[in-house]
Amino acid sequence: MAREIKKVAVIGCGFIGFGWITVFARHGIEVNAFDSFAPSMETVKDRVRDGLDFFVDEGVVKAEDIPAIMDRIKLCSSLEEAVADADYVQECIPENLELKQNLFRDVANLTDETVAIGSSCSGLQMADIAAKVTNHPERCIVSHPTNPPHIVAYMEIAGDTASDEVKQHIFDFMESIGQKPIICKEIYGYVLNRMQLAVQKEALYMVQEGICSVEAVERAITDGVGMRWPFTGPLATEELNSASIEEGMYKYKDYMMEFFTKEQKPLNDISDELIAKVVAGVKPIMNGRTHDEYRLWRDQMVTRTRLMKENNPI
Ligand SMILES: NC(=O)c1ccc[n+]([C@@H]2O[C@H](COP(=O)([O-])OP(=O)(O)OC[C@H]3O[C@@H](n4cnc5c(N)ncnc54)[C@H](O)[C@@H]3O)[C@@H](O)[C@H]2O)c1
Repeated sequence: MAREIKKVAVIGCGFIGFGWITVFARHGIEVNAFDSFAPSMETVKDRVRDGLDFFVDEGVVKAEDIPAIMDRIKLCSSLEEAVADADYVQECIPENLELKQNLFRDVANLTDETVAIGSSCSGLQMADIAAKVTNHPERCIVSHPTNPPHIVAYMEIAGDTASDEVKQHIFDFMESIGQKPIICKEIYGYVLNRMQLAVQKEALYMVQEGICSVEAVERAITDGVGMRWPFTGPLATEELNSASIEEGMYKYKDYMMEFFTKEQKPLNDISDELIAKVVAGVKPIMNGRTHDEYRLWRDQMVTRTRLMKENNPI
């Protein structure tokens, strides 16, 4: 049933929608963009253009390719127009179940069974989002990006009510345009956010208990373990902490279990006081940069690391 994807409808042109538009258009895919809020539509092409200018500065995109990339983006004045000739639909509207349910129902009614419909949702279950879909709900999947999708390519494909064929089709498509997809079962937070939340929980606990400062937990990642993580993840790390992964797992399993079962403490609340501590601790880390300057610096560093990785594959 899968059809070749040459044109994608992006529905919702906020933070995530504009990133997806940039990913698709940059990789030769035609994009029909639609947002129900006029200011989002009026600004989205400028935001994509700014993102492409950033890529030119970083040597990722050639300036002469920008006009062709921008020409692939069509602003549509209705949902009907956006999905009419689309081969895939990427939904990027707010994390609100009723909004997504209604949109999925409408998109499914406007398209045939060969068109997969992906949700950028961060935590909702696909069975709930597709609850009002009667026209082939098995083509409705979770297609969860990392923010921003055009900078961080990792993404998650899920949906326990979706067919394996559709999930594999979107996996192959995403891979073909330079994204880094994984497929997982539906679980709260999916994979990336579960791991991020595990670290955040421990960071908040240590700050709350006065064990160390906000700066210290930040540096444990940005100067410490995070220096390895772009290259060796949380499990492969053990190969290099020992003579081999087998030896590492057996050597450290008691140490790990001691932490998991006895040393790890619950975090019962994120109090106003704890939030104030975090806010006061993060501001100096930004070193006088504004929010936008901090984002630009982060995007530059991530893009340069990504290029270095792509030029030095394992
Ligand atoms: N921001 C993140 O860090 C992040 C990361 C991964 C996934 N997500 C998920 O991506 C989705 C979008 O998040 P965002 O941060 O881009 O939100 P956003 O608020 O920036 O953008 C949502 C856009 O959808 C538009 N919209 C609302 N209802 C609509 C409708 N019925 N039809 C068309 N357009 C509509 C809004 O006008 C807005 O422009 C959410 O499900 C979110 O959980 C967000």
